[in-house]
Amino acid sequence: MGLLSLTTLTLAALAVAAPSPRQDAGLTYKDFSSSNGIVYRVAIPDVTAAPFDVALQIVAPKAVGWAGLAWGGSMLNNPLTVAYPNGDTVTVSSRVAGGYQAPTPYAGAEYTVRPGTTVNTTHWVLDTLCKGCSQWNGGGLDPSGDVVLAWAFAPNAVANPSSNTSNIAFHNQGKGAENFDLTAAKVKDFEAIVSGGTAGGDEAPASSSSAAAAAPTP
Ligand code: HEM
Ligand SMILES: *[C@@H]1O[C@H](CO)[C@@H](O)[C@H](O)[C@H]1NC(C)=O
Ligand SMILES: *[C@@H]1O[C@H](CO)[C@@H](O)[C@H](O)[C@H]1NC(C)=O
Repeated sequence: MGLLSLTTLTLAALAVAAPSPRQDAGLTYKDFSSSNGIVYRVAIPDVTAAPFDVALQIVAPKAVGWAGLAWGGSMLNNPLTVAYPNGDTVTVSSRVAGGYQAPTPYAGAEYTVRPGTTVNTTHWVLDTLCKGCSQWNGGGLDPSGDVVLAWAFAPNAVANPSSNTSNIAFHNQGKGAENFDLTAAKVKDFEAIVSGGTAGGDEAPASSSSAAAAAPTP
């Protein structure tokens, strides 16, 4: 890596960390928006093949009861990340659907909740790292080009928000799919940056020094 790109990387890490300390611990995400103002933000390591960990943020207005992402681009037979607010934090649930019915727990993916997980007066934010979302029985994500990511949400609050196996309502107000350029979601030093992740939802924001420390000194 040349001096120029090292400098760029360091500046990028500082630029992300400084103005919005709650946002993340130094990752730069690529995002898209679904209907009803939900934003999905994805970052992946700089790899050429699955499996790899994925970092996901879901930023949803309070009027959203649950929001989910289907990594295989449709509802069926791929890892579904479902999130819902639970008081001042957010619950993440690992699901899969074999048919067009309520998805069931999916043991093939494992989630770490990261410190950017927050709830304020207008929005809730899930900030998570998923092991097992990039590859599944019958498919996977090609990190070298466009993939299709599907999304769905419902306005209804879930039945049991503190449980990651809560019943959720049908997505009666929206679902869809998005072409997503995964190459633009690649982050150098991804593993070093996310290794600061923790299991809780309310930790103090990561400091900018941890983000900057991930980049070698030029
Ligand atoms: C109680 C929970 C759920 C029920 C009952 C349900 C039911 C259905 C039904 C009946 C359809 C086909 C009819 C239609 O398009 O409206 C559908 C489509 C779809 N669902 Fe769900 N769903 C649930 C949860 C989810 C979740 C958690 C996700 C994503 C994380 C999801 C993503 C989609 C997508 C993207 C489609 C479009 C067709 C496809 O991609 O296969 N659904 N769902
Ligand atoms: C719920 O959380 C437990 C403990 O972290 C985990 O082992 C389990 O797979 C999760 N289940 C779902 C459906 O997310
Ligand atoms: C709440 O958090 C969201 C997501 O980070 C942010 O866009 C919004 O401005 C925040 N709202 C307030 C009132 O601070």
